[in-house]
Amino acid sequence: LSTTEVDISKIQPGQGIKTVWRKQPVFVRNLTPKEIQEAQAVPLSELRDPETLGQRTKPGKANWLITLGVCTHLGCVPLGIGEGENRGPFGGYFCPCHGSAYDTAARIRQGPAPKNLMVPEYEFTSPTTVRIG
Ligand code: FES
Repeated sequence: LSTTEVDISKIQPGQGIKTVWRKQPVFVRNLTPKEIQEAQAVPLSELRDPETLGQRTKPGKANWLITLGVCTHLGCVPLGIGEGENRGPFGGYFCPCHGSAYDTAARIRQGPAPKNLMVPEYEFTSPTTVRIG
């Protein structure tokens, strides 16, 4: 399958789910207002791979953060959804393989990974459905 349909209606703020697209894990997360604010408060000059939350989400839907669940260092699956929800020191995702820490916009903030978690192509096909790919 080249696309994946995801029902996001049950994902509460602060929660996320893992899905699969083209055999790769994808994280779909509903950010809280506080998490959005934290992401927006970071100066781009502090970022290794500078992108705003707005560049990584759809207009008017800054709470829906959709990224590959593939660490950009060597490809482990970061923690942050399920698994005790270890989100690391920047509140987003934490890769246990070599300690890369991502923030609430899934941007790399600490550790060896060079890039932010990748945002796949996707669109909202209804207010509660996202098609990835
Ligand atoms: Fe994630 Fe190395 S694979 S830190």
